[in-house]
Amino acid sequence: MKTIYAANVRPGDDIQDFFIVKGVQIKTGKTDKEYLDITVGDASGDLNAKKWDVSPDDSEVRSLQNGDVVKIRGTVVEFNGQKQLRIQRIRRATAQDGVDMNDFVKASPEKPEEMYAYLTGLAERMADDDLRRLSIGVMEAHKEKLLYWPAATRNHHAELGGLLWHMKRMAMAGERICEVYPFLNRDLLIAGVLLHDMEKINEIVSNTEGIASDYSREGQLLGHLVMGVRELEKAGEAYGVPREKLLLLEHMILSHHYEPEYGSPKKPAFAEAEVLHYLDILDARLYIFEEVEETLRPGEFSEKIFSLDNRRVYRGDLNADAETE
Ligand SMILES: [Fe+2]
Ligand SMILES: [Fe+2]
Repeated sequence: MKTIYAANVRPGDDIQDFFIVKGVQIKTGKTDKEYLDITVGDASGDLNAKKWDVSPDDSEVRSLQNGDVVKIRGTVVEFNGQKQLRIQRIRRATAQDGVDMNDFVKASPEKPEEMYAYLTGLAERMADDDLRRLSIGVMEAHKEKLLYWPAATRNHHAELGGLLWHMKRMAMAGERICEVYPFLNRDLLIAGVLLHDMEKINEIVSNTEGIASDYSREGQLLGHLVMGVRELEKAGEAYGVPREKLLLLEHMILSHHYEPEYGSPKKPAFAEAEVLHYLDILDARLYIFEEVEETLRPGEFSEKIFSLDNRRVYRGDLNADAETE
C-alpha cells in the first residue's frame, strides 16, 4: 500500500515508495555532470527531487516523462531552506507493481459535476439577461474541460478540478461581499468570476488527471488575460451582448492581475473589477496557506514559500499557553 505523503515528508525521512512524475528535466551541474531534476507527487501534493550523476547511457532515467509512475528510494534533505528528495534509485512502475492511479491524482475536495452545477446555477439566477446568456453559454462551451482542468501548473489549485474550485470559492466570497456592499452589481461580479480565468483552458496544457506541465504557445505569447478578452469579444458578438456590458467584462478580465508585471496593462477602473482582483488573490493565497499549514505542526514555521513572496508560513498553536500552565 502506498503512503500518501509527498507534500508532508520531512528532512531525515527515508523514502521507498511510488510517485507520479509532474515535471522532469536533465540538467548540467557546475562540474559538467548531468543530474535529474524532477518534481514528483501523489494525492497529497508535490515534492522536488534530484538524482546526481546521471550517466549518458541511463536510458531509464533519461526517458522519464510527465505522468509516469515511478518507484523511488531516497532520503529527504534540506537544501537552501527547501525540502528536497535525494534519489538513490528510481525506476518506472510496472504492471506487477499494481499501483492505483487514485493514489496519485490530487483533486479538489468537491465533485467537479457539483461545482459546475453550482456555478451555472449562479449564472441562471442572474437578473441581467445578457450577462446570464453569455455566462451560461461560455460555461457550457467549455464544460468538458472545466470538469478536470487545473487552475495552474503549480503554486495554487494545480489539481484535478482546480479551476472550478477556484471559481466556486471566489463566487461564494463574492456573493457575501455584495451583501456588505449593496452598491455592487452582483451579476457583473459573478460574470467576471466565471469568465476571468476561462482561457486558462487554452493557456495551459493539462492531461485528464488535471496535471498541467506546460503552457501552450498562445499561452506563453499572449496569456489568459489577452486571450480572454479576445474570446469574449467573439462570444459577446455571438450572444448579442451590448457594447458597454461587454467592455466592462473585458476590462475586468484585463485588469484582474492588477499589476503590469503580472500581466495586467490596466488597473481596475470600477468597483466590481477591484473586487474581482481581490477575490482572485485572496482565493489563490488562502489556498496556499491552507495547503502549507496542513504540512506543519502547531508552533512550526514552513520553508520559504516562493508563491507567497518567499514568506515562511507559521502554524499558530492556540493551546500553547494552556499547556504550560
Ligand atoms: Fe488569472
Ligand atoms: Fe483567478
